[in-house]
Amino acid sequence: ARQRLREAKRWACAGAVLRDLEERCAAPAGRLRQVADAMAAAMRAGLASDDSEIGNGSALKMLLTYVDSLPSGDEKGLFYALDLGGTNFRVLRIQLGGKERRIIKQQSEGVSIPQDLMSRGSNELFDFIASALAKFVASEDEDFHLPEGMQRQLGFTFSFPVKQTSVASGTLIKWTKGFAIDEMVGKDVAAELNKAIKRQGLDMKITMLINDTVGTLSAGRYVDHDVTAAVILGTGTNAAYIEHVSAIPKWRGPLPKSGDMVINMEWGNFKSSHLPLTEFDVALDAESLNPGEQIYEKLISGMYMGEIVRRVLLKMADDAALFADNVPKNLEIPRILSTLHMLMMHQDATPDLKIVGVKLKEILGIESTCYKTRKMVVDVCEVVASRAARLAAAGVYGILKKLGRDIASPNEQKTVIAVDGGVYKYYTFFAQCMESTLKDLLGEGVASSVVIKLVEDGSGTGAALLAASYSQCLQYEDD
Ligand code: GLC
Repeated sequence: ARQRLREAKRWACAGAVLRDLEERCAAPAGRLRQVADAMAAAMRAGLASDDSEIGNGSALKMLLTYVDSLPSGDEKGLFYALDLGGTNFRVLRIQLGGKERRIIKQQSEGVSIPQDLMSRGSNELFDFIASALAKFVASEDEDFHLPEGMQRQLGFTFSFPVKQTSVASGTLIKWTKGFAIDEMVGKDVAAELNKAIKRQGLDMKITMLINDTVGTLSAGRYVDHDVTAAVILGTGTNAAYIEHVSAIPKWRGPLPKSGDMVINMEWGNFKSSHLPLTEFDVALDAESLNPGEQIYEKLISGMYMGEIVRRVLLKMADDAALFADNVPKNLEIPRILSTLHMLMMHQDATPDLKIVGVKLKEILGIESTCYKTRKMVVDVCEVVASRAARLAAAGVYGILKKLGRDIASPNEQKTVIAVDGGVYKYYTFFAQCMESTLKDLLGEGVASSVVIKLVEDGSGTGAALLAASYSQCLQYEDD
């Protein structure tokens, strides 16, 4: 009987932790509307000036990209792209055939970045990347044609906050997502890569330097003219969208022909008192490489969701002996539980949650678990993922509000949001929850005119497409 009483106490205690988590993570529609309004206000403040602050420094960076026209489909020729920004980087080449033939051929290769290169010197990182690029260029076959006398052009997707000085240059403002090469901050990233490319003896030049959100926007636009904004939900999270230059007071340059400019919001850095934060988020932030920064990103993106779940499970193990009398050693290791592990457990469709059991054993060394324990783990994943997906929907709703596209338009204009990133692509629960939440927020009548569209590999492809469209612009100007 004593044993049974102890069991009951354990479950009561674990249940209390879960309920408390649910309460603190709650993001009902009313709160999401507040988040969206705060997002729209932070957008306006960031567009007004580079150092404007509303509230306690909650303005977004709203980075100018200098990109004032997007690929049209007419682009022709051979272009390369290099995509750096998460745990992998990718090199790709694309042969474009203009309006009729579009993408004739495309090849790409992914290379994982050794962990230590993310925090050593900039030369080490860029030499590593450039050498992979050189190898890739060497494998170009006869399906790809570079016109005689032309230099190979490269679109460089560098997915960190960059202060652009032109479409092809810009300085790193700060690192995010676990990269930490201090000497790079303030340097022109395109210049650094150009130097590394030279060191490889490669005849190639960076003609576009962009963020992954801008790449996704461009790739989305190439296939669908209604694409207005792009969101990345991967290792990190961010959004870019097309803004009227007249709504960008801080833009001091000439008025572009299109009247528009793409803005890289860096929404990962969004902060608001309306965000539902828990003790787990506060501790995760304090122990991160960038405390106080990227708060929205730390609630939503792939680099952090699994880690939040680990922290909750650790508390359940500590307070309620969820897994056994002893706290599993591995559960104390930061970042041991990735978001990929999390989604595999969460989406376990076996009736007895077998996969959850296997993962707990594999990753955390937890020998045997009962169904109730596994279900508890799934419930924790669900709370963390729902909050993230709902907050991401609120962010999109904020952009739509800023653009006045949250209300029915008389001409039935469609708005397409291009989305890419592993969290959206592989975490089905997340994607569905985000979409249904956005529909709820928009309400009937408007919901059907807003579409979220997965644009796979947009960040790299988009860089190549932009490099192509800008080189064509130059040719036209020369004519
Ligand atoms: C981080 C970066 C941002 C990027 C995003 C998605 O938030 O700061 O530039 O777009 O991750 O990769």
